[in-house]
Amino acid sequence: MNIEPATRTALVFGGSRGIGAAAVKRLAQDGYSVGFTYVNSEEQAGALAETIAEQGGEALAIRADSQDPAAITAAVARFVDRFEKIDLVLVNAGLFRMNRIEAVALDELDGMLAVNVRGVYLSIQAAAPHIVDGGRIVTIGSNVAIRTGFAGSSVYQMTKGAVAAMVKGVALDLAPRRITVNNIQPGPTDTDINAGSIDMLSQMSPLKRVAKPEEIAGLVSYLAREEAGYITGASLTIDGGFTL
Ligand SMILES: NC(=O)c1ccc[n+]([C@@H]2O[C@H](COP(=O)([O-])OP(=O)(O)OC[C@H]3O[C@@H](n4cnc5c(N)ncnc54)[C@H](OP(=O)(O)O)[C@@H]3O)[C@@H](O)[C@H]2O)c1
Repeated sequence: MNIEPATRTALVFGGSRGIGAAAVKRLAQDGYSVGFTYVNSEEQAGALAETIAEQGGEALAIRADSQDPAAITAAVARFVDRFEKIDLVLVNAGLFRMNRIEAVALDELDGMLAVNVRGVYLSIQAAAPHIVDGGRIVTIGSNVAIRTGFAGSSVYQMTKGAVAAMVKGVALDLAPRRITVNNIQPGPTDTDINAGSIDMLSQMSPLKRVAKPEEIAGLVSYLAREEAGYITGASLTIDGGFTL
């Protein structure tokens, strides 16, 4: 990994594994000092921060559960204390549980809403005052917001539909500061969420494979660029032409 000298800063919510970790690495390569949150994967989080430091970058792992509003605020405060300002926020933390409507329990419903919707909103709200004019906000939604999805994914689909709607409104609120707000909607991606289902999902894909986390991170990197400054309020789907 070739790391450019850091001149900008990025805060990633949910960066210890999967798509979030790929984005942390890519942003470090692009010349960002990166802070990222995690909850359970302390070892992976520490190893990721160490790898980036060894390669000349700067990364700060912060334990903060996106279900907890106070933890989100504290994570932003810790980030700003260290890096002073925020150029880019990536809200990636998300929960995926599958159950048909007959079996969805209240705590499952509330837990997914708390992380995938309220947590996304509160992360943006807490970070916004510290984001530089002309900065970037990117959320990770899902292609299930626009595709049929799967039986058993109604709650997940609802949360990702909410994120797509959310960015449209937040984009208008922050447009006076030239902060762009966009949502990436990946299709099936090779992460722990899909452990055991990669072959099945690959067969369902027109390209006969799932996405690599690095491909989703590449779109984050693009949205961060100067030339992407006219894209805002958008949901960009990156799902290999998935049609279900
Ligand atoms: N993989 C896919 O096929 C796919 C497709 C479409 C959309 N997405 C979306 O992409 C995002 C990342 O998915 P992934 O596949 O990379 O998932 P993953 O491999 O399960 O990783 C999830 C990451 O989010 C963190 N996280 C989870 N709950 C959190 C919480 N309450 N507070 C803070 N961090 C939390 C995890 O941290 P810890 O491990 O430390 O807890 C981990 O770093 C999610 O929003 C997901 O819905 C994924």
